[in-house]
Amino acid sequence: MDTIQIYEDNRAVAAAFAAHLVKLFEATEKTRMAVSGGSTPKVLFEILAKEYADTIDWSGVYIYWVDERCVPPYDEQSNYRMTREKLLDHIPIPMTNVFRIEGERQPEEEAKRYAQLVSETVPNDGGIPAFDLVLLGMGSDGHTASIFPHQIELLRSENLYEVGIHPESGQRRVTMTGPVINTAKSIHFLVTGAGKSPVLQKILNSQDNYQSFPAAHVPTAYWWLDKAAFGK
Ligand code: 6PG
Repeated sequence: MDTIQIYEDNRAVAAAFAAHLVKLFEATEKTRMAVSGGSTPKVLFEILAKEYADTIDWSGVYIYWVDERCVPPYDEQSNYRMTREKLLDHIPIPMTNVFRIEGERQPEEEAKRYAQLVSETVPNDGGIPAFDLVLLGMGSDGHTASIFPHQIELLRSENLYEVGIHPESGQRRVTMTGPVINTAKSIHFLVTGAGKSPVLQKILNSQDNYQSFPAAHVPTAYWWLDKAAFGK
């Protein structure tokens, strides 16, 4: 059963989720979490850096990525760069706890290398790595991670990571696949902004063509929404 929480705006969503994360960090000796890029994580990272840099034992937090654009780590499009600038540069986390997807490498090779790294370092459940927490966003086309509607089969891939292709720009991205997302101990969608509302309503109410949206195939998630995205 999904859990839905609605907040005033993007910032309130990020603040509430930051508080949730901090409780998880405090309760767990080692937290292995996979993060996404996008607009709400950016605010979340700013809040964590500003308000929790000194109060968290960051040595127990291990950061992986759900997806990465196939660009070098200094590129403006890089999810790693965004996370580094907003969060990692401001907290005392050992860099050995940070496992970035190397977007500058050949994408298929990098998907294999990263899958191997994840399977070697994240404890598994039935043979599939089980992250303590996976943080997802959703695009206005219903994509999640970098699994777009035209590649919905990546939800059922036998590989832990694959190469997704952005439908408009053609940009290649290394992405976590469905089995890894769905094996996580907790799955959280952070979705904000009115542009997401039409698709979100279909997904939450199982209406019309909702099954064509990759985000609809993630069972038992926590949805952290702002009023605009919820649309009511
Ligand atoms: C990325 C993502 C992607 C994102 C959604 C929502 O690298 O872009 O990981 O899946 O979560 O596109 O992004 P916004 O929050 O910016 O709308």
